[in-house]
Amino acid sequence: MSTYDQLMTLMTKRRSIRYFSDEVLDQGMLTKILEAGRIAPSVENTQPWHFYVVRDPTMKTKLMDASCYGNFVAGAGAFIVIVCDKTAEVVSPDTLWNPREMEYSCAVAGHSMMLAATALEIGSCWVSLHHGPAHDVLKLKDHQIVVGGLMLGHMRKGDEDASREHQRKPLESMVTYDKDR
Ligand SMILES: Cc1cc2nc3c(=O)[nH]c(=O)nc-3n(C[C@H](O)[C@H](O)[C@H](O)COP(=O)(O)O)c2cc1C
Repeated sequence: MSTYDQLMTLMTKRRSIRYFSDEVLDQGMLTKILEAGRIAPSVENTQPWHFYVVRDPTMKTKLMDASCYGNFVAGAGAFIVIVCDKTAEVVSPDTLWNPREMEYSCAVAGHSMMLAATALEIGSCWVSLHHGPAHDVLKLKDHQIVVGGLMLGHMRKGDEDASREHQRKPLESMVTYDKDR
């Protein structure tokens, strides 16, 4: 299989998993997933992310209450809150024309971690967080922006194979070539 086909197989396999088995997510797996976030691309190579790994049940429940739609967060083996450090060092400030690009970079890291989780047969799902309440739960500083949360955990028996068709719009509806006006 070509590298492209392998990658597409992995990306097609990834789907949001919201419920997990009780099996503990060991540190080795977690480190491998975090490593995928570490090597993600970022604007000006700022690497503006910090990954807060939450495994404590009380903290997970508090973050569940800070989620937009995530009343299942407490069931995750680990919940990674991806936080953007807006003071991250920029090599050439002139080229950072859009300050939000640091947050976009954090989202890219999140996707990398989800793909790594899939490759390790670990379920994942991005969960939107209300910035203020999540910020309070983690006692973050003013320059830290909550980008989102990532649930991780072992899949329940049967869920591994419950592959469903990804509901996606057709390619032609989302691509425009050579637009001139
Ligand atoms: C930025 C972002 C925010 C999301 N927020 C939530 C969320 O708060 N709760 C949730 O259950 N899923 C959330 N999701 C997962 C999406 O619902 C899911 O990716 C989408 O429905 C497509 O399904 P799939 O991931 O299984 O392919 C989010 C995904 C992204 C990328």
